[in-house]
Amino acid sequence: MSNLSRRHFVKSTAAIGALTSINAFAINKNTANDKEIRIVLVGCGGRGKGAAYQAMHVRKGIKIVAVADAFEDNVKEGLEYLKKSNPSQMDVPDENVFHGFDAYKKAIDVECDLVILATPPHFRPIHLEYAVNKKKHVFMEKPVAVDGFGIRSVLESTKIAEANGTMLAVGLQRHHQYDYREAIEQCHNGAIGEFQYARVWWNSSGVWTRPRKPGMTEMEYQMRNWYYFNWLCGDHIVEQHIHNLDVINWVKGEHPAKCSGMGGRQVRKSKEHGEIYDHFFTEYEYADGSHMFSQARHMPKCESRVQEIAYGTKGSCDFGKRRITGENKWRFKGRDVSGHQEEWFHLIAALDKGEVYNEGQNGAEATLTAIMGRMASYSGVTVTWEDALNSDLRLAPESYAWDATHLPCLTKMVTTLFQFRV
Ligand SMILES: NC(=O)c1ccc[n+]([C@@H]2O[C@H](COP(=O)([O-])OP(=O)(O)OC[C@H]3O[C@@H](n4cnc5c(N)ncnc54)[C@H](O)[C@@H]3O)[C@@H](O)[C@H]2O)c1
Repeated sequence: MSNLSRRHFVKSTAAIGALTSINAFAINKNTANDKEIRIVLVGCGGRGKGAAYQAMHVRKGIKIVAVADAFEDNVKEGLEYLKKSNPSQMDVPDENVFHGFDAYKKAIDVECDLVILATPPHFRPIHLEYAVNKKKHVFMEKPVAVDGFGIRSVLESTKIAEANGTMLAVGLQRHHQYDYREAIEQCHNGAIGEFQYARVWWNSSGVWTRPRKPGMTEMEYQMRNWYYFNWLCGDHIVEQHIHNLDVINWVKGEHPAKCSGMGGRQVRKSKEHGEIYDHFFTEYEYADGSHMFSQARHMPKCESRVQEIAYGTKGSCDFGKRRITGENKWRFKGRDVSGHQEEWFHLIAALDKGEVYNEGQNGAEATLTAIMGRMASYSGVTVTWEDALNSDLRLAPESYAWDATHLPCLTKMVTTLFQFRV
């Protein structure tokens, strides 16, 4: 299990890269292919609605046939939104609207071709396992897990999808944007020389909070306000910074070997901010001794910066500014696209041609890179890739029930972390 081989990683990303040349992924609404693709949506929040909308936008014949959410109000709201935005491609009878912790099973059991998984990341491994065992194509959002336990499960499911020959797409949409693809290609072709180090940032003011309402159980409150609880979210280094860490892994063609870091809570002091940190600084080291220096901060009234820069012996590549400076100057002049939409053009184009691709391994590696950073920062010790992957720390409640108590709190498990069975 610990052998996440570089060869495999390069192979799976190369398969995705091969799509780059098909700039004319020219599927659009005029396509002659109206073959029906029946889609089920699990997790009807902001991203789930967005992904479902973007899937239907690709072409006619793509239908949403079932929806599921943990909460009844969210599934109803999501369904209404999608019906209003694209009534002709919504085909969801009342009996295909599900809510509760097991809603995902009921939805996936509906006759369908593809499942969108867009819940908080804690549930991804569980939902993915069910979907691949039912031989469904899957589009799942990032991050793909919150702990090593979940990553191991996702890797198993990735293999099952490979064996089934079913699609496994991951919402790391930079892989489907031509600015990133071309910049990476330049780096791989030697434009910046030999890679020396990289700097990455996800510094922003933070995200929403969802207030506790009278009568809510602790489980309901945490599920609604999921971003602030590690067992559901993985902390913001995992939730958002994953995108930037993933880009440098892509440049390197491998994941880091180890990392050390620090972090804490400087402004997140109220109860509604749960337990996650508001800042991290993490230093990742790759097998060849090169580094990635990472900042992830959620603090209002500070400088915002979401960016990746790779530095080499001949120059540097600023992915956000889409340019290479140094000996081999380059600027992106290609097609500007929405990654969220383009990833669906690619996915449906592949299915229409009877092809599949599998981004599961890369999704797992990007997620584990971020988890490793969290582990190092919470524990104060160096964490290796194997430590993170084989960790027996499991961030999960005793049961998935609205009256469940004993919800895991990572900051209270800190003794375990210092003992380093993290
Ligand atoms: N790729 C991107 O750029 C991008 C952007 C935004 C969000 N995301 C990802 O999408 C995921 C969802 O984020 P969001 O912004 O839509 O959050 P959200 O809170 O708006 O929506 C999550 C939905 O999932 C539901 N849910 C929770 N647990 C569930 C369960 N066990 N079964 C079924 N439904 C469940 C919630 O009730 C909610 O409706 C996250 O992993 C996030 O990182 C990705």
